[in-house]
Amino acid sequence: MNSITRLAALISLASLFPLSAIAAESKGTVEVVHWWTSGGEKAAVDVLKAQVEKDGFTWKDGAVAGGGGSTAMTVLKSRAVSGNPPGVAQIKGPDIQEWAQTGLLDTGALKDVSKEEKWDSLLDKKVSDTVKYEGNYVAVPVNIHRVNWLWINPQVFKKAGIDKAPTTLEEFYAAGDKLKAAGFIALAHGGQPWQDSTVFEDVVLSVMGSDGYKKAFVDLDDKTLTGSDMVKVFTELKKVATYMDPNRAGRDWNLAAADVISGKAGMQLMGDWAKSEWTAAKKIAGKDYQCVAFPGTDRSFTYNIDSLAVFKGKDNAKNGTTAAQQDLAKVTLGEDFQKVFSINKGSIPVRNDMLSNMDKYGFDSCAQTAAKDFLADAKTTGLQPSMAHNMATTLAVQGAIFDVVTNYINDPKADPETAAKQLGKAITSAK
Ligand code: GAL
Repeated sequence: MNSITRLAALISLASLFPLSAIAAESKGTVEVVHWWTSGGEKAAVDVLKAQVEKDGFTWKDGAVAGGGGSTAMTVLKSRAVSGNPPGVAQIKGPDIQEWAQTGLLDTGALKDVSKEEKWDSLLDKKVSDTVKYEGNYVAVPVNIHRVNWLWINPQVFKKAGIDKAPTTLEEFYAAGDKLKAAGFIALAHGGQPWQDSTVFEDVVLSVMGSDGYKKAFVDLDDKTLTGSDMVKVFTELKKVATYMDPNRAGRDWNLAAADVISGKAGMQLMGDWAKSEWTAAKKIAGKDYQCVAFPGTDRSFTYNIDSLAVFKGKDNAKNGTTAAQQDLAKVTLGEDFQKVFSINKGSIPVRNDMLSNMDKYGFDSCAQTAAKDFLADAKTTGLQPSMAHNMATTLAVQGAIFDVVTNYINDPKADPETAAKQLGKAITSAK
């Protein structure tokens, strides 16, 4: 057969079997805006994509790079303003209520699936309240991250002559000094506002305890924000910053994690999505790396719940997007997905029945500790929403805190008393 006749044969075959008959027709498309773009995060979100596609829907990936999600939020806002929101977007905490108030989230799409799948009984009320608006689910919670973790490379610790993980700020500084003296980066870090404030909230928790943390970031109590304990927080923060990688400006969190994984650095302060990078590098918790609570915070758990919110669209029902949103939501809270996603992502499941039965699902020691602490701290004031990860305040207040903290860390002349005053002032005007 020459090439012309081969082509003719192909054309006539194609007319016998139109594309729709060869590849099964999609039941609908859903575009998902999220910021899970590091190697480990991508492995996690690919699990959701694969399942939605297996169920016959088309996944349009709306990934926007940038840890912590501020770039993704900017993109989402401009798309919403121009009348072109995606079907689903990663939105968290109080921000979900703000989006729902604009009328752009779909209050009806998840009604049946949430009833059929008994979400109310699967989820803690704190969690379901966050993703409901006026009694209706407008988002599906995906997982729970703990933020107040310290990640350690034990081989590096050994080389620097450190024999145990620090449990107080003094021990942390002593370990930092030894790491520096042995030629390592003591604390891998990325100089980005959300990463700076992740460290800041750890220090607030360590110095003030959970009650002080709540007064500062949930109640936004001016006395706490400007008082002597906050001055101490800024003093300690300055000291913590002396151990940070001097080349940190603009560095992504996963690159900082890579420095600890490869043995260039000894420690990193980051939520447990950092574990996704260790997992992707085939490292084992408790053996190749250690996860411990940030010094002084082992009785507290700063939580960060990822959620996927559903947007309205005038043709959503007709073109299958509503069905795709429902499928995605159902998959997300399914037992299999909850397990596989969190194992890849470094988080723990959001389902109560799974949190109290972690052994059964093969979670590693870090995840087991996280689940145990989550359940214990939920009975005290130990369980607190992460400010740096959009769980405690509006984005306006969070932005005001980020500015004060990042300016403070980067200004060699900055003074703790002035910083505390600035913090109070900035929050008052952002409220
Ligand atoms: C957090 C988010 C995590 C992770 C991290 C780094 O805000 O909740 O899922 O993606 O940012 O980007």
